[in-house]
Amino acid sequence: MTTTADPNPTAADSGRSATATFAKKERDAAPVDSARVDTVARAALAALHDVIREHELTYAEYDALKAWLIRVGEDGEWPLFLDVFVEHVVEEVGTADRRGAVGTIEGPYHVPGAPEFAGEATLPMRDGEPGTPLRFRGTVTDLDGNPIEGATVDLWQADADGYYSQFAPGIPEWNLRGTIRTGSNGRYTFHTVQPAPYQIPTDGATGALISAAGWHAWRPAHLHLKVSAPDRLPVTSQLYFDGGDHIADDVAQAVKPALILRPTPVTSGRGVEVTYDFRLDPA
Ligand code: DHB
Ligand code: FE
Repeated sequence: MTTTADPNPTAADSGRSATATFAKKERDAAPVDSARVDTVARAALAALHDVIREHELTYAEYDALKAWLIRVGEDGEWPLFLDVFVEHVVEEVGTADRRGAVGTIEGPYHVPGAPEFAGEATLPMRDGEPGTPLRFRGTVTDLDGNPIEGATVDLWQADADGYYSQFAPGIPEWNLRGTIRTGSNGRYTFHTVQPAPYQIPTDGATGALISAAGWHAWRPAHLHLKVSAPDRLPVTSQLYFDGGDHIADDVAQAVKPALILRPTPVTSGRGVEVTYDFRLDPA
């Protein structure tokens, strides 16, 4: 098997990996305050009761819902489902008072511990990695535009077939994942390839809901980023490509105007380049 063959992940493959990755991250999380659980759980249940009354849910529909919820868990798809349909509002609420770089959802496919580089990096990729070469660079600064030395820019992305390493079979572990630490000029430069749009797995519970409701399962092509620095609020973001498919109808509702890149052809050779700066709020 060649590594560039269509890895064709099933929902169960990517769901299991996303669930295991999330469980590892969550292991050391602090418990949520009981009064807060009371308030939020009560409000969430009341909102659901209102939906049932308003739409006069039948017993058949209630049982279909139960069966579907069970299947989301069996398919390991809770991280995928929640990050597509819920996370964007959590992100909106959590970053409302930021003045610097605009963020958006993290999604289920970040893995800590990617290969590290200083200033400039060619992301780990396969021989002949498909896709348009992309030079993506910029500066990390404070709110006044002063460069930040020692900032970390962590990038992860799908390949030109729309698949993420560690969540689709047959792709090397750290393919198209890497972290750059900025030097004294605050600059970073990634050499990578343009990702393809990403399709939510269609063969699992989330896909079943999407097709039962007559929705589509696509996210526009995007780069994922986490940018952080000492004494600064970290930003989790995604960057999209102007004119790309599904920019205007992202199933995850995570596109914002400030996150759309307009790459231009490189002056010599093949590929495109684009610059994007991150201004970090103080912690
Ligand atoms: C999902 C996948 C993504 O690549 C992303 O950016 C957001 C959500 C998902 O499958 O849930
Ligand atoms: Fe993604």
